[in-house]
Amino acid sequence: MTRPHDYFLRTDRLGFGQWSEGDLPLALELWGDPGVSSLIGGPFTDREIGARLARERTMLIDHQVQYWPVFLLQSDDFAGCAGLRPYHLDGRIFEMGVHVRKSYQGQGLAQEAARAVIKFAFETLQIRGLFAGHHPKNASSKRLLGRLGFSFTHEEFYAPTGANHPSYLLMNPGRPETL
Ligand SMILES: CC(C)(COP(=O)(O)OP(=O)(O)OC[C@H]1O[C@@H](n2cnc3c(N)ncnc32)[C@H](O)[C@@H]1OP(=O)(O)O)[C@@H](O)C(=O)NCCC(=O)NCCS
Repeated sequence: MTRPHDYFLRTDRLGFGQWSEGDLPLALELWGDPGVSSLIGGPFTDREIGARLARERTMLIDHQVQYWPVFLLQSDDFAGCAGLRPYHLDGRIFEMGVHVRKSYQGQGLAQEAARAVIKFAFETLQIRGLFAGHHPKNASSKRLLGRLGFSFTHEEFYAPTGANHPSYLLMNPGRPETL
């Protein structure tokens, strides 16, 4: 369980932790809610959510990134997750994703978390570019990616939803090489 003093990254309202083995109850709260999972491949069984938690922990060991759990600084309440996963390792392109618990959606928290992830990716990790995609029915995610400055590149089949997802890139302005 992430404790407040463990936050490695903070925004005005959010602290970023790291998934621990004992975080299954938090993972179930987030990914077990169809209000969060329906457009990212859910509903997920408890077993699938346990496997997802294990994958996030392995990703941190292997690639120093994960969809980090985020908490409200004011209450330490669990708000969701935001972060990175490998997309095109040779090109140093990572995928960015944000999942906000239903009760905290509509407050600008996804945007706040995503801006912190982008800054961390580009300035601290020196990542070359970020990929993001969304289910075609995910209007909220589409607006979010637009506000963050992502550019539409193509549609890509996403096996967990069985749909073609509009897909986007945001390149690191500090590393202006082309793909
Ligand atoms: C998509 C998702 C991440 C958006 O989360 P969110 O926290 O509601 O998103 P935002 O931070 O952009 O805020 C949403 C709205 O609140 C508004 N808002 C309210 N208060 C705000 C504030 N203080 N600051 C900024 N915006 C605020 C925003 O303008 C935005 O308006 P819009 O609906 O017209 O676009 C969320 O719906 C989610 O987790 N869905 C399930 C998982 C998923 O599909 N993730 C995306 C693919 S990885």
